[in-house]
Formats: sequence, structure tokens, C-alpha cells
Amino acid sequence: MKILVTGGAGYIGSTATAELVAAGHDVVVVDNLYQGHREAVHPYAQFIHADLMDESAVNQIFAAHKGIEAVMHFASYTLVGESMQYPAKYLRDNTVAGINLFEAAVAAGVGRIIMSSTANLFDEPEMMPIEPECKIVPGSPYGESKFILERALHWYERIHGLKYACLRYFNAAGGTPNRGEDHTPELHLIPVVLQVALGQRESITLFGGDYPTRDGTCVRDYVHIVDLAHAHILALDGIARLGSRKYNLGNTNGFTNLEVVETARKVTGHPIPCTIGLRRPGDPAVLIASAQKIRDELGWQPKYPQLEQIIGSAWEWHQSHPQGYRTK
Ligand SMILES: NC(=O)c1ccc[n+]([C@@H]2O[C@H](COP(=O)([O-])OP(=O)(O)OC[C@H]3O[C@@H](n4cnc5c(N)ncnc54)[C@H](O)[C@@H]3O)[C@@H](O)[C@H]2O)c1
Repeated sequence: MKILVTGGAGYIGSTATAELVAAGHDVVVVDNLYQGHREAVHPYAQFIHADLMDESAVNQIFAAHKGIEAVMHFASYTLVGESMQYPAKYLRDNTVAGINLFEAAVAAGVGRIIMSSTANLFDEPEMMPIEPECKIVPGSPYGESKFILERALHWYERIHGLKYACLRYFNAAGGTPNRGEDHTPELHLIPVVLQVALGQRESITLFGGDYPTRDGTCVRDYVHIVDLAHAHILALDGIARLGSRKYNLGNTNGFTNLEVVETARKVTGHPIPCTIGLRRPGDPAVLIASAQKIRDELGWQPKYPQLEQIIGSAWEWHQSHPQGYRTK
């Protein structure tokens, strides 16, 4: 298929692009390189440097690349904390970018769209693990922007017949030999812990040690980026057969922050000094996904479910790319 990947120079989107190319798809990537890296884009994909906030640029993409059949929408501002400081960047920019894309896609006759959504929809989970049907209470303007776009897709289906999947990732992690996590600033736990092992930081401070969990630190569900990419590929076909879907994506296996640090010590052989700091406002104690629905309906089967595999693959990438994409 001919597929447009937005945010395809970013962490997860570039991995999905590589997997789509490997599966024989014809991929066009659009990214404004705000966080993405041109070097991360698979050489067989066509790259367009554009901002989805620019409506005419988005229309131009579909005019210049006729025959796009599906869109995978990864492009987004992604930081929960930043969204609590600058809500408009999320409530306005993320949503305007998404609506520009959906409008242009339906005008160009695109039939399917797969959107990256988030565990931040579930700030007050009424069940654990969290099923896709769990009540949605966004935890921040970031989560709200994803919820708005999920609702927008509901209306684009009703009005235009656009089929969609919303894939709510829990904590994306891991790497491949050629692609890994390189954000500025880097705020995700695993890459920050690995920066300590690389000697780029002295130590790591965890947010809070008094949560009602087995060791007092927050519990999160880590899922490998390659497994996320495969979920996208399965969803492409799945929504054509089954109709629009919302799936939660994780390994249904939560790890505390301290367990992540301990596993990283084992993987890297580095002592990784660690202290416990204050809680970060807005962090729920436990977030674990139930991915049973996507397993049952699409046969999604993670290839890298073990935390050690996930951290090990990230460590390999960080070791071979200690300055991220800058040293490639
Ligand atoms: N990383 C995670 O753990 C996680 C968890 C849940 C959901 N998500 C979602 O997955 C998607 C990908 O996340 P990621 O970690 O790869 O983030 P990322 O920042 O690495 O990738 C996002 C990409 O989108 C691009 N972009 C942002 N705004 C744009 C715009 N207006 N026009 C064009 N390009 C734009 C950025 O330059 C970047 O390359 C995001 O939608 C994010 O919200 C990520």
C-alpha cells in the first residue's frame, strides 16, 4: 500500500516506517523535525519536511503524492509536563495539526487512518489492567488533545466513512540497531537511566517513593517500539475487515521505577546510582494495559515482552549512538 506516515522522523514513527518498508509498503514521511531526525527516516521512504499546522502544505502533500491509501499519524507534541505549562501547544496545535490531516486525507480519498493515542487518557483508571473501554479521564492537556482527536475520528467516520484505529500505547521503549530514542530534552525513564550508564549523567532521581506499590515507586507497562510498529501494520488490515477500533497496547506486566533501574544495572553492568525524590504532580501510581482485545481480534503477539529484552535493545542502540543521531 501507499502509506503516509506523519512524525516518521520521530522515535516510534521512524521504526514503524522501517517496518512498513520491510513489509513492502510504499512510504511517504512528513515531519517538521521539531523532535525528529532526518537520519532516522528509512532511505527507501520519501521524506517531506513540513508542518501539519500548515493546512496548505498538508493539502499539497496529498496533491503531490497521489494514491495514498492509508495514514499513520504519529506527529504530535508529546510531553505531559509541558502540556501542563503550555496547554495551547497541545489543545490547539496538536488538534489543529490532526484536523488539518484528517480533512486533507478524506478530500484525497484516503480510507484508513491509524492514530497514536496514549495511556494518559486514563488518569483515574477504574480497573487494572486497563481495558480500552475504561472510562476516559485525560490526565493533562496532552491526553485531552489525543481524546479530542479520537472523538474527531469518530465523526470523520460517521460523516465521511473514514475507518480508523486509535492505538493507545503505554510506555514505548527499546531500540533497533538503526533506530532509538533521541529526544531533547530526554524525559523518559529508560533512556535517562541509560545515560547514567553511559557516563553522561551522574545519577538518576526517581519521582516519589511513597506510592502504594510493592517498593513505593510508580509502576508502568513498557512495550517495544517494534511491537508497536507491528500493531500498526496489523491494524491497517484489521480495520478494513472489522471496522474502526480502539486498542490499548502494553505487555500487561507492570514494572516499578526501581525495577527498571535494577534491570538496567543488570543489562549494562553499571551501578547506576539512584535516589528517590519528590513525587511529580499528576503521576498515577500504576498504569498497566490490557492488550487482550488486540491480541484476540488481530492476533497481536509482542516479540519483545521481557523488560530485559526491551532495555537490552535500547542499551545496544545507545552504546552505538552515544550522541543519538548526531554521531551516525
Ligand atoms: N513515546 C511514548 O512512550 C508514547 C506513549 C504514548 C503515545 N505516544 C504517542 O506516539 C507518537 C510518537 O511518539 P514518539 O515518542 O515517537 O515522539 P517523537 O517526538 O519522537 O515523534 C513525534 C514526531 O512528530 C513530529 N511532529 C510534531 N509535531 C509536528 C507537526 N505539527 N508537523 C509535523 N511533524 C510534527 C516531531 O518532529 C517528531 O519527529 C506521538 O503521537 C505520541 O504522543 C508516545
